[in-house]
Amino acid sequence: MLDQIPTIKILMILLVLVLYLSSDVEAQLRVDFYRNTCPDAESIIQEEVRKAFFRDRGIAPGLVRMHFHDCFVRGCDASILIKSTPANVAEEDGPPNAGSLRGFEVIESAKDRLEQECRGLVSCADILAYAARDSVVVTGGLGWDVPAGRRDGRISRAEETVDIPAPFDSLDQITQAFAKKTLLQDDMIALLGAHTIGRSHCTSFSDRLYNFSSTNSQDPTLDRRFAALLKRQCPRGPQGTVDPNRDLVVPMDPSSPAMTDVGYYRSVLLNRGLFTSDQTLLTIPRARAQVVQNVQNPLLWMRKFGDAMVNMGKIGVLTGNDGEIRVNCRVING
Ligand code: HEM
Repeated sequence: MLDQIPTIKILMILLVLVLYLSSDVEAQLRVDFYRNTCPDAESIIQEEVRKAFFRDRGIAPGLVRMHFHDCFVRGCDASILIKSTPANVAEEDGPPNAGSLRGFEVIESAKDRLEQECRGLVSCADILAYAARDSVVVTGGLGWDVPAGRRDGRISRAEETVDIPAPFDSLDQITQAFAKKTLLQDDMIALLGAHTIGRSHCTSFSDRLYNFSSTNSQDPTLDRRFAALLKRQCPRGPQGTVDPNRDLVVPMDPSSPAMTDVGYYRSVLLNRGLFTSDQTLLTIPRARAQVVQNVQNPLLWMRKFGDAMVNMGKIGVLTGNDGEIRVNCRVING
């Protein structure tokens, strides 16, 4: 009996330690974070997203992508929303973002209403995380609970957008880019399904059509008929490749560009993924199996997607007293 006392003591200490550590983790981000301080926050944001979406369907994909690009650079701290100044070129003008982000005005209109309703309380980083979820719902996807309590960063640098993977990357490269942000390959495969909505500029994949390698001008892994269609939509300019000044775009999932469904995975299986980074999912059996599973079980994919969005939304967040609650999402507080 007496021999057991130290063991019980050690177990008690361990239990207290586990409870302490887990409560600390939960104190970081919490579902229903604004329940007492700004109870209408989520519904205001949802309303703004819905209003904007019914004016312009491109808003939904724009906001989902914006949340991803925010989280991959300095964590989900709304640094992507900060405008460039004469003294600083901000993330929004970095190569993966310049001229291709959509939805800033939705975040701003939600923020304006929230500042009137509950001044200085709701961060721009949280608004973006909720708006991404609402964008998936408004396009027919399943929702998820968004843990919140993020605070806004004060730094935004164009050169740090190198952390965002590129459309010509291989499976190894994109897996590493996600691992660097603490996300598993499974999360990545689920998240890539976001390419079921929205559009791409022709310049993001035109090398696969005209300038692939020294031996093949066209990527041989790209379905030939699809390539022919893309070439009609993205014709060569005088420079021998797509003219960047024409701002040509194509839908990423032509059969249902404004529906969150498994059309993306179906396209990948048919070798009709738009980017090398999409098509590369077929290069290892484990990833291919997940693509097949997602096509066969859309509901399962939607759940995995929601879980992966929650994981992505936790990357490098500022909480507690770190960062600030920006008054204007496009400008750091003075
Ligand atoms: C390997 C990772 C990824 C790469 C290389 C990649 C690349 C791209 C590129 C090149 C575009 C087209 C941009 C343009 O030309 O306008 C795009 C669009 C898009 N991406 Fe990704 N992406 C990746 C992962 C993700 C993830 C994780 C999400 C969200 C969870 C996402 C959501 C979107 C959406 C919704 C669009 C359409 C944007 C619009 O219509 O405005 N992407 N992506």
